[in-house]
Amino acid sequence: MPSPSPSTSHGSPSLTPDSGLSPIEAAKRAAARRTLGEVKSGMTLGLGTGSTVRHFLDLLGEALAKGRLDGIRGVATSRDTETRAEALGIPLMELDEVESLDLAVDGTDEFTPELDLVKGLGGALLREKMVVQAARRFVVMADGGKAVEHLGSRAPLPVEVVPFAWRSHLPFFRALGADPRLRTGDDGEPLLTDNGNPILDLHFDPFIPDPWELETLLRTRAGVVETGLFLGVANAVVVAEISDGREKVTFIQAAGRPE
Ligand code: 5RP
Repeated sequence: MPSPSPSTSHGSPSLTPDSGLSPIEAAKRAAARRTLGEVKSGMTLGLGTGSTVRHFLDLLGEALAKGRLDGIRGVATSRDTETRAEALGIPLMELDEVESLDLAVDGTDEFTPELDLVKGLGGALLREKMVVQAARRFVVMADGGKAVEHLGSRAPLPVEVVPFAWRSHLPFFRALGADPRLRTGDDGEPLLTDNGNPILDLHFDPFIPDPWELETLLRTRAGVVETGLFLGVANAVVVAEISDGREKVTFIQAAGRPE
């Protein structure tokens, strides 16, 4: 299989454009800024969830307010994204109002050299996957710390399940080699997704041996709603790093998938 093709640009050697931010937030913002360059007036957009997406929304809101873009309509993948987009004046619609979306943009928790992803630490995996499957193109924004050789080596794999008898999945997940942990909030209560479902975070040591096989096994189990494995769906990953105040943004195009 041909390897993904990277193209890299370097920012100012002295200060990053967002020098008030921590290096990691500045990297997320730089990835968001480069990704905004993929957006054209009139597009329908899938809007992911998380801190990187919040930077993207800020920049998109600014571009709309200043008239650099117009005619944009977005689909939010979470209440958090919906609230922020509305506050920024980004027009929203429901996913079922259109047959397809021009572009989905989102963050990630991990990405591999093949551009496979683990997502869902923000709990929006189901809606994010539905938006990605409706989009003609999916561009992922990441800071350099999200790069891994193998999925599951840095982040747990989130699995959304129906509330009914959620504990009944635990022996099954353990038999798959995972240490499953119910995601809870600060109050110790189960954290529920926007769909009202709990999430089990599957910890693998040292990593997920075969993500494609795992996806099949998980998705064919009754009671599992969705997993955070996004395999073979990213068209590109925009990776940004800040080092010595210098910004490095790399656009990695997935081999064999449409640009
Ligand atoms: C939410 C997600 C996020 O995209 C992922 O957790 C990355 O978040 P952040 O941009 O805050 O690092 O999948 O469900």
